[in-house]
Amino acid sequence: MAQGFLLFLLFSYIISINIHACNQIERCSLLSFASTLSSPPLNWTSLHCCHWKGITCDQDGWVTHLLLPSKGLKGDISPSSLRNLTHLTHLNLSHNSLYGSLETQFLLSSNRLEILDLSYNHLYGELSLSLPSRKIRILDLSSNHFFGAIPSSFFQQASNLTSFNVSNNTFTGYVPSSICLNYSPFVRLLDFSSNEFGGNLALGLGECFELQVFRAGHNNLSGLLPEDIYNATKLEEIALPMNSLRGVISDKIVNLTNLKILDLSLNQLSGKLPLNLGKLSKLKFLTVYLNNLEGTIPASLRNCTNLVELRLGFNNFDGDISMLNFSKFSQLTKLDLRYNNFTGMFPVSLYTCMYLKAIALTGNHIEGEIKIEILSLKSLSFLTLGHNRFTNLTGTMKILMSCKSLQTLSLVGSFVGEGMPFDDGMVDFDGFQNLRALNMAGTNLTGEIPVWLSKLKNLGALILAFNQITGPIPSWLGNLPRLFFINLSYNQISGEFPKQLCRLPRLVYEPIASQVDQYEFELPVYNSITTNQNVQQYRFSLFATSIDLSNNNIVGDIPTEIGQLHLLCQLALHSNNFSGVIPDQISNLKNLEVLDLSMNHLSGRIPLSLASLTFLKTFNVSYNNLGGPIPTSTQIQTFNTSAFEGNLKLCGAPLSNKCGSNKGIYEDDTNNKDLDNEPHQLPWFYIFTVLGFIVGFWGVCGSLVVNKTWRCVYFRFIDNIQDRLYVMVTMRINTMKRRLRS
Ligand SMILES: *[C@@H]1O[C@H](CO)[C@@H](O)[C@H](O)[C@H]1NC(C)=O
Ligand SMILES: *[C@@H]1O[C@H](CO)[C@@H](O)[C@H](O)[C@H]1NC(C)=O
Ligand SMILES: *[C@@H]1O[C@H](CO)[C@@H](O)[C@H](O)[C@H]1NC(C)=O
Ligand SMILES: *[C@@H]1O[C@H](CO)[C@@H](O)[C@H](O)[C@H]1NC(C)=O
Ligand SMILES: *[C@@H]1O[C@H](CO)[C@@H](O)[C@H](O)[C@H]1NC(C)=O
Ligand SMILES: *[C@@H]1O[C@H](CO)[C@@H](O)[C@H](O)[C@H]1NC(C)=O
Ligand SMILES: *[C@@H]1O[C@H](CO)[C@@H](O)[C@H](O)[C@H]1NC(C)=O
Ligand SMILES: *[C@@H]1O[C@H](CO)[C@@H](O)[C@H](O)[C@H]1NC(C)=O
Ligand SMILES: *[C@@H]1O[C@H](CO)[C@@H](O)[C@H](O)[C@H]1NC(C)=O
Ligand SMILES: *[C@@H]1O[C@H](CO)[C@@H](O)[C@H](O)[C@H]1NC(C)=O
Ligand SMILES: *[C@@H]1O[C@H](CO)[C@@H](O)[C@H](O)[C@H]1NC(C)=O
Ligand SMILES: *[C@@H]1O[C@H](CO)[C@@H](O)[C@H](O)[C@H]1NC(C)=O
Repeated sequence: MAQGFLLFLLFSYIISINIHACNQIERCSLLSFASTLSSPPLNWTSLHCCHWKGITCDQDGWVTHLLLPSKGLKGDISPSSLRNLTHLTHLNLSHNSLYGSLETQFLLSSNRLEILDLSYNHLYGELSLSLPSRKIRILDLSSNHFFGAIPSSFFQQASNLTSFNVSNNTFTGYVPSSICLNYSPFVRLLDFSSNEFGGNLALGLGECFELQVFRAGHNNLSGLLPEDIYNATKLEEIALPMNSLRGVISDKIVNLTNLKILDLSLNQLSGKLPLNLGKLSKLKFLTVYLNNLEGTIPASLRNCTNLVELRLGFNNFDGDISMLNFSKFSQLTKLDLRYNNFTGMFPVSLYTCMYLKAIALTGNHIEGEIKIEILSLKSLSFLTLGHNRFTNLTGTMKILMSCKSLQTLSLVGSFVGEGMPFDDGMVDFDGFQNLRALNMAGTNLTGEIPVWLSKLKNLGALILAFNQITGPIPSWLGNLPRLFFINLSYNQISGEFPKQLCRLPRLVYEPIASQVDQYEFELPVYNSITTNQNVQQYRFSLFATSIDLSNNNIVGDIPTEIGQLHLLCQLALHSNNFSGVIPDQISNLKNLEVLDLSMNHLSGRIPLSLASLTFLKTFNVSYNNLGGPIPTSTQIQTFNTSAFEGNLKLCGAPLSNKCGSNKGIYEDDTNNKDLDNEPHQLPWFYIFTVLGFIVGFWGVCGSLVVNKTWRCVYFRFIDNIQDRLYVMVTMRINTMKRRLRS
């Protein structure tokens, strides 16, 4: 015992003479640095600052490392206090909440700095003219609020720079492509993504002989891919998604034999894929969706046996898909061929890709049946087959029911003319255990809503729009514990609005965080463009809650129980035969953004209480038998006249007939919904059959589960894509209309 204690003393002694006491000036500097930060405390109290947490000193007692990542540090970083740490080589303050601008003075003094990581803070300001330290190797300023251009002189001295990450800021100007040319020939990693860089990518990267990772996605880059990038033969990753790059993918790309990731999605690239693409045998991720690429998939691709994701959707590729032998892609997890012009039979070789999680074939001309072998894909979670020429819907459904991992299934606009799978065998069958989203819109289904749906305890979204479904809405629908999105529009559904639907748990009770379905689509799904908001989305829980029963033959009152659906964002009951009054209780639906009750036989007044629906963005009660004054001094009045027209006895602003006078003689009797058989807006049918998968709105309702950051990122994301996607969508819609007609 005593011996041990002596040994311990001896040991401590040896340590303490080896590590000198820290320099007093440095100690003061550190304390002054700490004093500017708010909690939690750093506990820097002992005399020897070299022993403090996060500090390392060299043999002479100079502070060389200051490493305090993720320490919850808050406050205005005061670089002047760090200025006296003249021997600092490593500074890592990432993942804190530091703000303030990065003073050039600080950078000027730290001429020994090798590693500087300030990522994930709230720092702002422009970069200085040049990096101070000739020794700098790693510089990470990502995920802050830095702005301005990166001066070309910035790298002037940084001849040892290997890694430069400025992603997720708001930098502007050109991407400094000349970095290797004049200054930093050893750069391995360059990340410029998620900024506002613009213009062409200038030549220069070809000189980066060590470059492995080049990312500049989510910017405003235009022009062609620089010719010399194909000279940087060590490249393993090129990621430039979401820009406006055009031109072709050069054949020279096959010189980049180390390439593992090629992401050029969401650009305007055209032409064919390089014939010898197969030479890129290390390729794992080939992601070129949403471009204008064309031609067949080069046969050589089969030599890319390491492919994990093959995402070619939303281009103009064609050719017989069954010619491609997928059996060599033993690692493949995601296959996205949506909205191209592929023909041929469903490639049976796909059934051998054991790890497949997602197959998206919507919008091609693929034929054939889904075979039982698909069940060997044990991880298959996302399957969209719509708008093809598949046959045997009943057989397909019976097979897919056993697909245990299936979470998203879309058959929209496929199997046309075959009718609903009505087989009794399906009722007892315990299938589709994990199905979250089922889209069978536009599949010409007939008969009633089938009972087997009542067993889908995980079902969140059910879309059966644009079919010929008859019979009533079954009351058991209200028992599905996770259902939050129902679209039964454009059918021949009759009967009343079942009261039971008003107790849908997911629309009545706010889910606690742990109950929110964390499911993410394996491939993005595309949302309604009518709101000009959201285009592609992965997170299931972000789809707004919705009940759309429009364009059916539903009769009776709108039940007063509807007021229980507190979490409902969208209620569309238009073009039915609802009668009675608009229940006051609708005003309990505080999250409502869309309320469309038009083209029914509703009578009475517009309840005054509707004025409390502050999120309402779309409101329509036109073509009913409503009467009395439109509630004054409320936001209801701010809606367009068209929201109220066709109600003979309704009066007051925004309608032109004044209350109290002229009652009853208001022009023609427009209370006749047959006047206009065409839906007013572009029917959603086209939008979701074309663009994808689920129709919905996000908006405020989405924010129930979205954190603020996400929304910010999201809005930036959209600004870029909007126009071009809109053009594309319109284009596709026209094609689709043509296809539907023929
Ligand atoms: C300082 O000490 C307190 C109490 O021991 C502890 O909770 C806290 O995590 C310490 N702070 C740091 C930065 O280690
Ligand atoms: C840095 O050192 C100078 C002189 O060596 C001193 O005047 C100044 O107060 C020090 N700054 C800090 C923050 O300790
Ligand atoms: C900074 O610290 C974080 C957390 O330990 C670490 O993940 C990161 O790699 C460090 N940065 C550098 C450049 O070493
Ligand atoms: C660059 O790194 C090399 C090797 O690590 C080193 O010898 C050289 O001194 C460094 N250059 C500068 C300017 O620090
Ligand atoms: C750059 O930093 C971001 C975090 O801000 C990180 O997500 C990204 O992976 C980094 N880039 C590279 C190439 O490591
Ligand atoms: C972007 O930066 C912000 C602010 O630092 C951060 O909160 C966010 O997580 C970053 N986003 C990504 C994708 O890294
Ligand atoms: C690529 O490298 C070759 C050989 O080093 C050189 O001749 C050629 O000019 C380079 N290409 C470009 C576009 O820089
Ligand atoms: C590609 O590689 C071939 C043969 O290895 C070579 O002749 C050609 O110059 C290379 N092209 C580029 C752009 O480096
Ligand atoms: C695939 O690779 C093999 C062997 O490396 C080669 O013989 C064959 O020509 C390649 N196939 C294609 C289509 O490029
Ligand atoms: C798709 O292919 C068909 C023939 O198979 C052709 O007539 C049509 O023009 C192609 N469509 C597009 C958009 O390329
Ligand atoms: C439909 O598919 C099922 C299951 O694969 C099969 O048993 C049945 O014969 C098929 N029906 C037709 C009409 O092809
Ligand atoms: C829908 O099915 C009916 C009969 O079941 C058929 O007459 C009609 O042509 C089908 N419509 C389409 C578009 O296939």
